[in-house]
Amino acid sequence: HSDTCSRLPEGTRVLAENLDGIPVALEWCPGFQGIQFHPEVSHTKEGKAILANFLRLAVNPAKFRIASFKDHLIDRVRSQVGSRKVVCGVSGGVDSSVLAALLHESQVDTRNIFVDNGLLRKGEARQVEAQFRSIGIKIETIDASARFLEALAGVTDPEEKRRRIGRLFVQVFFDAVGKDVDMLAQGTLYPDVIESATSGSIASTIKTHHNRVDRIMELKAEGRVIEPLDELFKDEVRALGRTLGLSDEVVGRHPFPGPGLAVRCPGEITPDKLEIIREADAIFIGQLREQGWYDHVWQAYAGLIPVKTVGVKGDERSYEYAVTLRAVISEDAMTADWVRLPYDLLAEVSNRILNEVRGVNRVLYDISTKPPASIEWE
Ligand code: XMP
Repeated sequence: HSDTCSRLPEGTRVLAENLDGIPVALEWCPGFQGIQFHPEVSHTKEGKAILANFLRLAVNPAKFRIASFKDHLIDRVRSQVGSRKVVCGVSGGVDSSVLAALLHESQVDTRNIFVDNGLLRKGEARQVEAQFRSIGIKIETIDASARFLEALAGVTDPEEKRRRIGRLFVQVFFDAVGKDVDMLAQGTLYPDVIESATSGSIASTIKTHHNRVDRIMELKAEGRVIEPLDELFKDEVRALGRTLGLSDEVVGRHPFPGPGLAVRCPGEITPDKLEIIREADAIFIGQLREQGWYDHVWQAYAGLIPVKTVGVKGDERSYEYAVTLRAVISEDAMTADWVRLPYDLLAEVSNRILNEVRGVNRVLYDISTKPPASIEWE
């Protein structure tokens, strides 16, 4: 986007130019070629073919299979961990579930800790426990919801909320595992590695509450952090999860932010507001699943608009909150478009929310692209 080839390196031949006449593909000698654009992005026509051809020429033949990559990852985990003890934070999301399954398959001595921060969706804590139980992985749940709600009481600034949630998460986590952590496993993916190398990107601030916390930095400096998924993209993590025996329900889950419902509840977080979001979200997601839309959507949720507007209840005026529904498609969460859901589906979700969720008299559908909007509300 900003790099350009203004002078050709000696001994090169131009293979292709863009519409402005700038070289975008060069050859030094047969078999030694280079391109100056992104074959991997979805907008590049035939980008996959370029990469496939490259692999065919370079690897001869390309034998990359996620199943054999799994063996490579297991070997790496075993050699990094040895006989040490590993702690792993699980959230029920795809990345940490695949990580826990990989550690389990590697047969390293692992403690899986699940912190219930009180900002989870309806029934989520129980679902996560059941999900791990069903594949024979033991997890320890710490119900810290009261502590989180207390820490968030009266706080309205979005970044301050994130900071508090992040700090408390680490505190609760290390209270549970004790000070002497042999090794910590994190579900960092390759895009996170790229993004933290690119200063100033939006994404690099998103995960601040995961990465920049002192204790974790200390462990990192001591070489006690392993990130076994750090060479994989999300779709590869999903494929790996399947070869590790995780169900489609787990590997196909929508992304869910670390600070949970807090980023879908602008202003002060209260149990009442969380209850509204949970109920509305369960109705919306349930309908998306029932009507076959869930897997066509990158991420969807119901959030709360903390403004009380007028409505009618019986013969009286009522002032209640609005709920916003958001469903987006995206490749990598950096850009997103809203999903053209059928009106009938939206109508049913809206009717059910208005009838079944107390404290709501308005349902809106968010038709904002990212940018300029973001996927979450905060
Ligand atoms: P935005 O709202 O920035 O979200 O368009 C992009 C993606 O990142 C997720 N997200 C977060 N994830 N901690 C996280 O772990 C956060 O603070 C956070 N904020 C947003 C969001 O759900 C979406 O998938």
